[in-house]
Amino acid sequence: MIRTRGLTKDFAVGRNETVHAVRGITLDVEPGELVAVLGPNGGGKTTTLRMLTTLLAPTSGTAQVAGHDVVTHPERVRAAIGYVGQGSGAGTYQQVRDELVMQGRVHGMDRRAAGRRADELLEALDLAPQARRKVESLSGGQRRRLDVAIGLVQAPPLLFLDEPSTGLDPHNRANLWEHVLRMRADAAAAGRPMTIVLTTHYLDEADTMAERVVVVDHGQVIADDTADALKSDLAGDRVLLRAVSPGQVPALAALAERAHGTRSVSVDDAGTDVVTVRSADGARAVPELVRAADAAGLVLAGVQVVRPTLDDVFLALTGRSLRETAIDAGAPESSTESSTETTEKEVA
Ligand SMILES: Nc1ncnc2c1ncn2[C@@H]1O[C@H](COP(=O)(O)OP(=O)(O)OP(=O)(O)O)[C@@H](O)[C@H]1O
Ligand SMILES: [Mg+2]
Repeated sequence: MIRTRGLTKDFAVGRNETVHAVRGITLDVEPGELVAVLGPNGGGKTTTLRMLTTLLAPTSGTAQVAGHDVVTHPERVRAAIGYVGQGSGAGTYQQVRDELVMQGRVHGMDRRAAGRRADELLEALDLAPQARRKVESLSGGQRRRLDVAIGLVQAPPLLFLDEPSTGLDPHNRANLWEHVLRMRADAAAAGRPMTIVLTTHYLDEADTMAERVVVVDHGQVIADDTADALKSDLAGDRVLLRAVSPGQVPALAALAERAHGTRSVSVDDAGTDVVTVRSADGARAVPELVRAADAAGLVLAGVQVVRPTLDDVFLALTGRSLRETAIDAGAPESSTESSTETTEKEVA
């Protein structure tokens, strides 16, 4: 569905400054995959999506989308994809159903076909009760579902969603995903596999929704695998050993170091009663650590295995936390909603 080789994008800013927004992205996406592109503000996610959707010309490299080259056959690419940009695309004074009908007409459907498709999508995305409402009166979650509906008007085999859930509350995020995943399952059941490429800042969302996570930073792919594989390969588990008193921490740390090596053991701050042991398989490390503590006559107050998060993965890859880097000046966006979106992103 997607094949890029060394895709780059430079922007000239001012007289002699160049922003290297995307620095050689090579990516293959198979039909039916659900891929989350995860990365900090300014990492190059939107720029990449805009090249793949033919809205921006690459500086160098190649990209085929749905079998067509984005530079030589942009119109064929556009006919095969849906794109929901960061921020909303819908006109605010239109009624919800009229907006969808209009989009269908833009894609060459006649009035009846466009009406039928609009009604299907309103039903599928739970917007039928709002069909006659003005777009501007919708809640954030309803509006984002309308954006997704617009992206799906021509029933594309490939859908790009740029931060579909940014700014939504947890309930609306969950609801949006429920709808998107159901539509995808329905399409698969009907023998029309739907490929979805989405960008997100939300670590938990990439973790639970996507089958594959592509981590992008400074315009490059720095990791590409399933969330589980990334976590076990790059971050590993943490076993937290709780001593009965802070005084026993040095002895506990020393025996953990004998079992697991100095580099995998850490004690956070003075006065803590917890020793952290990094291990590829925390559940297996526990009995062995408990036996060693026993043999040394150290009583443990508790043991906990903490599975890594995608933020631990990002930290392991870059030395920075994605949570910290997400709070940034942010990229310039053409959307009128970008200012409110940026503040809401920071909350995340
Ligand atoms: N039109 C432009 N002119 C100059 N620089 C740009 C332009 N568009 C993007 N950039 C820069 O390119 C880099 C990548 O931006 P991009 O919007 O692709 O990041 P992003 O990963 O989508 O970020 P966000 O998570 O904030 O949406 C940033 O440094 C941004 O400031
Ligand atoms: Mg972006």
